[in-house]
Amino acid sequence: MSSGGGAAAPLTNTPAWRALEAHADTIRNLHLRQLFAGDPGRGERLAAEAAGLYLDYSKNRITDETLTLLLRLAEEAGLRARMDAMFRGDKINVTEQRPVLHVALRAPMGESILVDGQNVVPQVHSVLRKMEDFCLRVRDGAWKGHTGKPILNVVNIGIGGSDLGPVMAYEALRHYSRRDMTFRFVSNIDGTDFTEATRGLRAEETLFIISSKTFTTLETMTNARTARDWCLGALRDESAVARHFVAVSTNAGEVAKFGIDTANMFEFWDWVGGRYSMDSAIGLSTMLAVGPAHFRAMLAGFHAMDEHFRTAPFERNLPVLMGLLALWYNNFLGAQTVAVLPYDQYLKRFPAYLQQLAMESNGKGTALSGEPVNYQTGPVYWGEPGTNGQHSFYQLLHQGTKLIPCDFIGFCEPLNPLGRHHDLLTANLFAQTEALAFGKTADEVRAEGVPERLVPHRTFPGNRPSNTILAQRLTPEILGSLVALYEHSVFTQGALWAIDSFDQWGVQLGKVLAERIIPQLEGQASPGPSHDSSTSALIRRYRARSKGG
Ligand code: F6P
Repeated sequence: MSSGGGAAAPLTNTPAWRALEAHADTIRNLHLRQLFAGDPGRGERLAAEAAGLYLDYSKNRITDETLTLLLRLAEEAGLRARMDAMFRGDKINVTEQRPVLHVALRAPMGESILVDGQNVVPQVHSVLRKMEDFCLRVRDGAWKGHTGKPILNVVNIGIGGSDLGPVMAYEALRHYSRRDMTFRFVSNIDGTDFTEATRGLRAEETLFIISSKTFTTLETMTNARTARDWCLGALRDESAVARHFVAVSTNAGEVAKFGIDTANMFEFWDWVGGRYSMDSAIGLSTMLAVGPAHFRAMLAGFHAMDEHFRTAPFERNLPVLMGLLALWYNNFLGAQTVAVLPYDQYLKRFPAYLQQLAMESNGKGTALSGEPVNYQTGPVYWGEPGTNGQHSFYQLLHQGTKLIPCDFIGFCEPLNPLGRHHDLLTANLFAQTEALAFGKTADEVRAEGVPERLVPHRTFPGNRPSNTILAQRLTPEILGSLVALYEHSVFTQGALWAIDSFDQWGVQLGKVLAERIIPQLEGQASPGPSHDSSTSALIRRYRARSKGG
């Protein structure tokens, strides 16, 4: 563990933390083979189910005592109070003095969640109705483009939370999407992204959704201006903007300044973090793709998991258990990362989405008190769909020197039944969790007649932990539950680490420095002494060689 310097935060002084440190020494010497051999019912006992998701956490390096201590740590660290504060609308994003209320985005009409004394649930539903009305008109062709043609192409322009959620949800729910419409997503300021996303599209049939919480983000505003030029280059009439551009933002002033009529703006609020916004109006592209009913079903899935998180006892609470297990490996067994391995091609962007959710939330080294933390915080989340990953990085998971806890995600029924494919896919998922946990001993390898010199190479140590999340099939409801599961697991981790999981000051410095470098690259300013010798030399080299030298 890094010392982090400074005064010890209270977390490491709690009795449960100290007990877990001592207990970790016992666990280091225990193998999952022993844990399963000593408890034939373990596989069914260490499982929990909620909101359509079955979580098998038996293949973790834990005993009942580990769980008891982790649950005690949650109590001692005040997890319940932090949860209550979030659901109540307290300003738990302390560095920005904002409530954190993505749970209000999926609260049914009739519930009351107060921000500064005002119930925000009616506003949420009013925007949902506006989105529904718009989506129905686009989908049935009543909303016409400037030349009277229906909209066939939708391009979402956004970045970070204004892109990753929409892309992930579109890919995840593609099975339910309108196949006669094209959906594309532009995020990168690299002109290649816009160029390729609009290749082959006709402007008169294309709708741009400019998605930005702040409506000031350099990448999004640059791409949005390029989109306007692209559109007007074809349609040659300023009034076309009103038929081909809509905005999703919290910033009506900037939307109007850009030239989008605020009647064509879908609002959300500063109590929704960017990385927690895919179920707000930021999900407009999702609703256009799958329709309002499926979008509502996704919200119901989110809400079911919210209710489970809010009300279930911690020992049966899926997000709490997953958060505590991530913390266990991160803080007591030295793991640096968590691999997320969906066995479903539709979830191919889920790991990328989770990276922002987890790492922008919990990549913090300063506690709420303002002191540096003296323990590890957010792990690196990464992953790829199975079975593809098996033929790439799983070698390291099985025989490498690093401890990498894994989350496997699978489904009992496929959305595209095709011969034996789904059984083969799922057999691989189960086989991987088994191989990771139990490995293969040297004696087992020898018994297969493997020459002695190869035995060490062909031995699998096992004892590599995993969670398995199993659901019936990938529906909009299940996607909502799954995302909420991770949102609240990330919350649980951040609450225990006593950090602000809802700010993102770490992204600022690079943005400011880029603003300073832009004029230096474009030739209006010289790279002067304001940079270090490396950065100055790179700028000079780029200036000498860019634009054909
Ligand atoms: O730079 C990080 C960030 O602020 C993310 O938190 C956010 O999701 C993204 O940029 C996009 O911000 P916006 O929606 O305001 O354009």
